[in-house]
Amino acid sequence: MPVKVDPTSTHARVTPSHALLASDTAASLSSCCDGSLLSALELTVESVSEILALATLLEQENPLKRAERLAKRRIALLFYESSTRTRTSFELAAKGLGADTTLVSSLSSSIEKGETLKDTGLTLRALGAEAIILRHPNSGAPWLLERETGLPVLNAGDGMHEHPSQALLDLRTILAHLRPGTEKVTAKTLAGVTICIVGDILHSRVARSNMLLLPKLGARVVLCGPKELLPEVAAQAGPGIEIERDFTKAIGQSQVVMMLRIQAERLAGLQLDLEEYKASYQLTEERLAAHTPEALVMHPGPIIRGLELTGEVADGPKSLILEQVHHGVAIRMALVLRALTQPTQKGVGA
Ligand code: MLT
Repeated sequence: MPVKVDPTSTHARVTPSHALLASDTAASLSSCCDGSLLSALELTVESVSEILALATLLEQENPLKRAERLAKRRIALLFYESSTRTRTSFELAAKGLGADTTLVSSLSSSIEKGETLKDTGLTLRALGAEAIILRHPNSGAPWLLERETGLPVLNAGDGMHEHPSQALLDLRTILAHLRPGTEKVTAKTLAGVTICIVGDILHSRVARSNMLLLPKLGARVVLCGPKELLPEVAAQAGPGIEIERDFTKAIGQSQVVMMLRIQAERLAGLQLDLEEYKASYQLTEERLAAHTPEALVMHPGPIIRGLELTGEVADGPKSLILEQVHHGVAIRMALVLRALTQPTQKGVGA
């Protein structure tokens, strides 16, 4: 079923189960600007290799030289949801390349007065923005913004749908530990690696982008969580994805354990027994030691200590949580540079 984007609406919507069946949306939701990154589905192994190589080049470049790359170019960050890591790292990335950035958030702009996404996007374009980094509560919003403005758009999280830059920084973190020095990836780079994603899969755009990206490099993705947060249909989201509801069995076969926050803001009335949840799915030191002592622990943040994982695990020797944050800047520098240096439009837009 194709996703319908209503140009008169402020947003497009993709339902959670529809979003899980990402291959359905692939045909109907392709981006129209080469520099855009809207979905992990668009990423080929070649483009991933290019982004990883560019991230390393930019990270190692002399900061003064790097700041000449996009000197005085204008980039807008349009955030309709709160964010710490994603917003700050995109902003630091753009500034590190010399760009002028402006942040528009829903609480301090005309969005509060009812301005549509289309009108806000056109306003930013009229102000000289050459690319827009968008976070929006509605799945599909970046496609609408890109189509209406004709500008490259970087999806910084759209509702329950996707967060492709997070998947790329997660990949860079995994490679740094399991395949150090690898930038040119292939369909076999992560062969033999099992990555377990645990918790609120249904509402997690991070889970979705990771489960679409990691199998392209040969990884096996095991999803784990209760039925309310992990419907069976999730296994059909793409190749290389399985479901294992028993937490200890799932982590026991994994080299990487990626924990997720319960997305309380998206539960829409769903009642969860948190004590039961913790008893079944909380990552504790004891569980790690007993079932997968060597596994790397990841989490996109924000973490809720004492819920999906304990503070000891978050701060423990296997935790890569802050390393993930660190990799975000290099990946987002690569994405921002790519957005402004490949702005060829594929047809639609302004
Ligand atoms: C997100 O924006 O999706 C976060 O990185 C993950 C979360 O909010 O739990």
